[in-house]
Amino acid sequence: MTRIRFVPRSLSRPAIVLLGLAFLVFASGCSFTEIFALHGPQSTYHTGGPVAQKQWDLFMVTVYVTAFIFVVVGSVLAYATIKFRAKSEADEHFEAPQGHGNPLVEIGLIVGSVLLLVIIAIPTLEGIWYTHDVPEAEKGLAMDVTATAYQWWFKFEYPSLKVKGIAGETPLATGNELVVPAGVPVRVQLRTVDVIHSFWIPKLAGKVDMIPNRGNFLWFKADQPGYFYGQCAEYCGDSHAIMRFRVIALAQDDFKKWVENQMAPARNVTAEAAATLPHAQFANYTEGTGPGSVLAGSAEFDADPFAAWKRKQLVPSDENAAQIAAGRKLFSEKTCISCHTIRGHEGIGITGPELTHVGARSTIAAGVLENNPHRMSQWIHDPTAFKPGNKMFNGGYIDVQTGQRKFTLNDDEIAALVAYLQSLK
Ligand code: CUA
Repeated sequence: MTRIRFVPRSLSRPAIVLLGLAFLVFASGCSFTEIFALHGPQSTYHTGGPVAQKQWDLFMVTVYVTAFIFVVVGSVLAYATIKFRAKSEADEHFEAPQGHGNPLVEIGLIVGSVLLLVIIAIPTLEGIWYTHDVPEAEKGLAMDVTATAYQWWFKFEYPSLKVKGIAGETPLATGNELVVPAGVPVRVQLRTVDVIHSFWIPKLAGKVDMIPNRGNFLWFKADQPGYFYGQCAEYCGDSHAIMRFRVIALAQDDFKKWVENQMAPARNVTAEAAATLPHAQFANYTEGTGPGSVLAGSAEFDADPFAAWKRKQLVPSDENAAQIAAGRKLFSEKTCISCHTIRGHEGIGITGPELTHVGARSTIAAGVLENNPHRMSQWIHDPTAFKPGNKMFNGGYIDVQTGQRKFTLNDDEIAALVAYLQSLK
């Protein structure tokens, strides 16, 4: 019998090796995450809530269907490659007889393809309905928040929690860290004040765009208390890649305590402002290298960011009241209040994140730096080194019209500002 040459002889061996490897992977029974070590804090492979789980399940349906196709097509290809390979010089010049095809095979392929698409379509439609809004049964429990994107940070507001400030009654607001109760569906209204951004908490819910002049929406639920990484997922300018945020899910009681504290105006550590500021110095600091690293978190932060967040809620025992009072004064004098709101400190600026309780956050600069005195001092000293194009530098420190520096800060002034901001628990 004459052999037909489907692929060059030289290619048949690598094809067999590849198929063998693929077979080993599937036969080993390892999960994807084990094979590819996908354990990062923004990995979607370990979900933390039902919305992300639904999306993961749908992804796996697609993986199984395509893996099935790969194995079937690959097996037929391998079989044909080996069985009909050219075995002699004469085979090299053989031309296969030309026919119109086999109707049974062709119809079978069409029906098979349609069936496979239907298998994918059913959970896809189900998933679209599920992620569209909180299920009816849970709607009464849901909490509403508004997430607004700015170049390059996120504002989170709680419309049901009203606080009184200089600008009247406004929703409780935080910056870059969204704190929610665990086990409760959260409905997020997605807004932007400038360009298109995208809201993404990999372990809790897939990304949804934040589009100018158009309201968008997603919902999520964290099954357990935890610390979740979020990321802007739509290119939005210079600092897009470092436009991050966090979702902190707390047990119901802890959430209530958190809300109570957040509703209060800023702490005011009263003392005579220091006449001469203590010389700037910050505790020794070891950078972490773990998967949880923000641009550079401390080793302690990396080991357990949720525990680090909890520690940030506590007032440290070694506060320097005179330095804090000096920092508070500087916050007004250096015009910080024109861009940042601190309730209880006449600040009503809305250009930058609200800072009433900034000392109780685990990160600053939109989730890019760990919130500790060392990093906060570096950030205030040169924000543009960490977040190119940011408005704190361009417009805050520098007059964008003239390019002139509007004010300067020496190290001791920065230390006082840091002490003040860290005191805002
Ligand atoms: Cu905001 Cu990318």
